[in-house]
Amino acid sequence: MKIIVRKITKPLMGEVTIPGDKSISHRAIIIPSISKGKTIITNLLESEDVKNTINSLKALGVKIIKKNNKIIIYGKGLNSLKKSNKNLYFGNSGTTARLLTGLLASQPFKTKIFGDKSLSKRPMDRIINPMIKMGAKFEHRNKKLPYTIIGKNYLNNINYKILNPSSQIKSGIVLACLNTNGLSKIYEKSITRDHTEIMLKNFKSDIKIKKKNRLKIISIKGRKELKPSNITVPGDFSSASFFIVAALLIKDSRISIKNINLNPTRTGLLLALKKMNANIDIRNIRKLNGEKVGDIYVKYSQLKGCNLNRYVAPTMIDEYPILSIAAANAKTVSKFYGLEELKIKESNRLLSIKKNLDKFGVKCNIKNNSITINPKLRNIKYKKIIINSNKDHRIAMSFFIMGLLSNNEVIIKDAQYIKTSFPKFINEFKKIGVKVLN
Ligand code: S3P
Repeated sequence: MKIIVRKITKPLMGEVTIPGDKSISHRAIIIPSISKGKTIITNLLESEDVKNTINSLKALGVKIIKKNNKIIIYGKGLNSLKKSNKNLYFGNSGTTARLLTGLLASQPFKTKIFGDKSLSKRPMDRIINPMIKMGAKFEHRNKKLPYTIIGKNYLNNINYKILNPSSQIKSGIVLACLNTNGLSKIYEKSITRDHTEIMLKNFKSDIKIKKKNRLKIISIKGRKELKPSNITVPGDFSSASFFIVAALLIKDSRISIKNINLNPTRTGLLLALKKMNANIDIRNIRKLNGEKVGDIYVKYSQLKGCNLNRYVAPTMIDEYPILSIAAANAKTVSKFYGLEELKIKESNRLLSIKKNLDKFGVKCNIKNNSITINPKLRNIKYKKIIINSNKDHRIAMSFFIMGLLSNNEVIIKDAQYIKTSFPKFINEFKKIGVKVLN
């Protein structure tokens, strides 16, 4: 499916509704599935990625039903999953793949898992290696999907230093540790999103967190059954980011976005945009199931460029594509460092950003793991610009915003991948004044 976008001549105005957070939604399916009792979930994200997590846990014997727009999960405990009689399909979802590899490594049966073309290219050694250390076995070819997990009850406990800044890997290991004898310790050098730790605390797991400067130590005592706790999923900050940047860039816009997760491990983009002179106001800050939540008000602003060091990258890793659109429309040059993880997302996002911005005459330079974006537009001869989204939802959504600002007609290829995280993306833009052809 393709989408055709044209320059918008009116400001964006009104309130946008953002669906539930994708990371929290995956965890809101997985953690209740291994707790003992009933959990009711409100505002779960119903996107392709989350559906793959739900279908996988159903295939593993968990009763999950939908009633009056809520999801109800009947968990039977840490050790209760059953061998699936079919191979599990994870589609495009790295979170499902990494978290369920950890979970299934500590269950006493074999499971074969597979994904789409993009997921089959992504590195899985980062989760397979610690699982092998804990005593699980794998049948695999070059440690990529598809592979078979040969799980084991009560894996060995582990002391493990996480090498890559990745919440998916941390969370996969934490899930394996839950059904393990003894005490495990996980050392994390750069802080990544901590939704798993927060939810496990709410489910009364024996998990303790210590922070020493930049180092975080997570201690988990295994084999303690989890106690259910109902969950309301807040709106997804990463999905909100497309509307935030669009309102900042489209003249005279003024929008509000309510009930958004503002967990500080996720909101690096707000700090970056503030540095760029953005007029963003956060109100009504509160806690919801241990997660920080608030309302975001955005007004059109004249942005300037900024430099961002590598330490902030994990707190905004999914937002670099849309931040690059902000940088491409700012008054001065921007430079972002420490982006090695961007190369192994749903696509090589560093390259996708450069190649697609190039089509608009915006000069980008990639050096080592950094990107420089020079917003000075060169002359473009083509009337139509075709965006190759590389089947990547966040590239498709980011360049949709670029299309709203461009004098050229912009055609987004493979736009159906937007359903990975945000099925109603286009509808929400229509609500605040955007016209779209497809
Ligand atoms: C996610 C963690 C991030 C992020 C992804 C979701 C999660 O990946 O890019 O969209 O839910 O844990 P990494 O942990 O691999 O950086």
